[in-house]
Amino acid sequence: MRASLILAFTVLAVVSCLLGTVMMPQATVGGEKNNREKSTLDLETQPVNLEDDGELVPVEEDMHEFMEYVFQPTYKRLKVSMATAPADNAAWKAIKADSLSLAEAANLIIMRPPGEDVKDWNKYSVDVRNHGKEFYTSARAKDFAAATKHYKAMLNSCNDCHKQFEDGKHILSP
Ligand code: HEC
Repeated sequence: MRASLILAFTVLAVVSCLLGTVMMPQATVGGEKNNREKSTLDLETQPVNLEDDGELVPVEEDMHEFMEYVFQPTYKRLKVSMATAPADNAAWKAIKADSLSLAEAANLIIMRPPGEDVKDWNKYSVDVRNHGKEFYTSARAKDFAAATKHYKAMLNSCNDCHKQFEDGKHILSP
C-alpha cells in the first residue's frame, strides 16, 4: 500500500515536471516579445558592409571615443552602484538602466570590426551582450547575488577583448 502510494506520487511529480517544461511560457526580455524578424549577422565571417547597407551605421566610428563615452561612464556608475546591495527602487533602477545600456551597446561593438580577428572580436562582444542580458534580467528580479555574478562575468568578457586587442590595457575590476 505504502509502496504504491510512493510510486503514484513519483509518477505525478515526473509528469508535472514534464508538463511544466512544455507549457512554461518562455522568459522574455526586451525585443524577444515582438514577432519582429530577427536580423542575422554571420559572425563567422566579415560583418555587413556598413557603407553599402545604409542602415547600420555607427555614429562614432572611432573605437576610442565609443568606449570612452558609452562604456566608460556606464561602467564607472555600475562600479559604485554594485558595491553594495541596492537599498531602494531607485538604486535598482539605476542598475537596470546601466546593465541594459552595456548589454545593448555590446551589439554595437560588432558594427566596428577590427582589421583582423573579426571572429574573436565578435565572440567577445556577444559574450558581453549575453552576460549583460543576464545581469539586466537579475537586476529586474532584484536578485543582488545573481546580478553580482553576471556583472563579474560580463566584465571578464570586456577584459577578454581588452587583453587580445588592447595588449591587456583597461583591465576592469568590479
Ligand atoms: C570586442 C572588443 C571589446 C569589448 C567586448 C569591450 N571593449 Fe572596451 N575597449 C576596446 C578597445 C579596442 C579599446 C581601446 C580603444 C582605443 O583607445 O583605441 C577599449 C577601451 C575601453 C576603455 C578605456 C577607454 C579610455 O578612454 O581609455 C574602457 C573603460 C572600456 N573599454 C570599457 C569596456 C567595458 C565596460 C566593456 C564591457 C561591458 C568593454 N569595454 C568591452 C574593445 C572592447
